[in-house]
Amino acid sequence: MIVLGIETSCDETSLCILESTSSFPIIHKTLTFSQIELYKEWGGVVPEIASRNHLKKIKPLLIQLLKETSLSMKDIELIGVTTTPGLLGPLLTGLNLAKSISFIHQTPILPINHLHAHIEAIHIDQKVDYPYLGLILSGGHSLFVKASAPSDFEILATTIDDAAGEAFDKGGKILGLDYPAGPEIDEISKEGDESAYQFPIGLEKEKSNPNMSFSGLKTSLLNLSKKTDLKANLQNIIASYQQAIIKNIIHKFTIIQKKNLQLPIVVGGGVACNSKLRKEMKENFSDVFFVSPKFCTDNAAMIANLCALNYKQALPYPECLHFDAKSRAVDKASLRGEKR
Ligand code: KG4
Ligand code: ZN
Repeated sequence: MIVLGIETSCDETSLCILESTSSFPIIHKTLTFSQIELYKEWGGVVPEIASRNHLKKIKPLLIQLLKETSLSMKDIELIGVTTTPGLLGPLLTGLNLAKSISFIHQTPILPINHLHAHIEAIHIDQKVDYPYLGLILSGGHSLFVKASAPSDFEILATTIDDAAGEAFDKGGKILGLDYPAGPEIDEISKEGDESAYQFPIGLEKEKSNPNMSFSGLKTSLLNLSKKTDLKANLQNIIASYQQAIIKNIIHKFTIIQKKNLQLPIVVGGGVACNSKLRKEMKENFSDVFFVSPKFCTDNAAMIANLCALNYKQALPYPECLHFDAKSRAVDKASLRGEKR
């Protein structure tokens, strides 16, 4: 089955054509336009700018994708599109592309939960049996989940404030690094002493509470920045700050893992690219699998992959269009990724 994946939840306009097989899917092509360069100046994503750029880029990207795969829109048998969570304007751009193709070619659509797609990206190129425990560590969300089937994922714990990726990015902003700061913090930390500074572990005393918290860590860095010469101690501060984020994740995930000792563990989302996190997860747990770095940060291959795995749940044409002049362009149920 030929699947088109559409990802526009934040600052990446990404399209992928993937073919499902009885084993790993074949990725014919993924094209991604990243707006990251634009946001260096702002220190974070600006929703209005993101919406306009998705709108500008999505059609040329689709034309290029079809050209490079020598396929036509008629060849697309199913469309998977991110409908939740994300920025409303960007999400609407992707959803309306899906609906437009469906309107012309009667293609069924499957709304995709972006976070679920992040962790299921493990199955693009690795074999991991269900059920497994997942750590979804992205820029906007951090979740511990249990996945029992491609369509069945249960949230076991979350962050009560910032996400792990936000801890990297907001910390980076305090330290004068460009957005998104995760990759640079990863690199600079390799040269620093991670035990040089002590940062707090969120909710550390709540021994049975697996929820994460990163906002205290960020405040602690801000306080340190007021009394220390950041530039003179940069490598050590960055290494210690990164280590605190990782300790936070491992400390809280251990509470979940102790209750599910026999399950394999999957780590996905942008923060799963982090080299030190990968090392520490392997040292602390056995049977750990990491989503391949190219499928960790936002990409449409993970959307097409989850769509192919759950193809039976697709909404047929014309049900998938939800045309209703009196309602909003997208209904709340599909925004939550619920099946209608
Ligand atoms: O999953 P993702 O691409 O986007 C969201 O869905 O939010 O994750 C982006 C996040 C950013 O916060 C970025 O700083 C972080 O992933 N990130 C990293 C690394 N590469 C990306 N964080 C730590 N170390 C990295 N190597
Ligand atoms: Zn993401």
